[in-house]
Amino acid sequence: MSLRFVIITCSDTRTINEDTAGAYLAGAILNNDWKLKNHVVVKDNVEDISAAIIENDHDVDVILTCGGTGLSLRDVTPEATMAVCERNVPGVAEYMRSEGLRKTPNAALSRALCMQRGKTLVVNMPGSLKAAKENWDALEQIIEHAVKMMRGGGH
Ligand code: MTE
Repeated sequence: MSLRFVIITCSDTRTINEDTAGAYLAGAILNNDWKLKNHVVVKDNVEDISAAIIENDHDVDVILTCGGTGLSLRDVTPEATMAVCERNVPGVAEYMRSEGLRKTPNAALSRALCMQRGKTLVVNMPGSLKAAKENWDALEQIIEHAVKMMRGGGH
């Protein structure tokens, strides 16, 4: 099954060349023979992140945001996600956190959400390379089935 992804890295400081977590996610998508339709870096504020989600949701199954899920007051990616998505899909974020907790208790510090905007799933990934890898390992196990269900497919 062909899945179509967009990566939105949320950072005031990183350029696309410094975005190691985003680059890892891009490689992992392509390794699965899935399509990466766009990879952008946007400033770390609710308006810019929300606008990037809206701009990139056409014919896309999964938008991965990268970074801004922590406890600093500058971390606003979950708020931007909530602002433009209709339905929460808590189990996906819970699964990523529970798998992360097997590696580090710091996984509990992620406020990441997974939400639906129409037929697009928006998944908040962390910004560090190590954490992005660990979150991807969990997401990769369930994302294909999630998209199949979103498209109205049966089990
Ligand atoms: N999840 C996993 N699997 N592994 C990690 O090392 N780091 C945590 C958490 N999630 C971590 C993780 C830490 S320390 C923080 S602060 C949050 O992700 C938020 O990261 P972000 O602000 O880069 O999005």
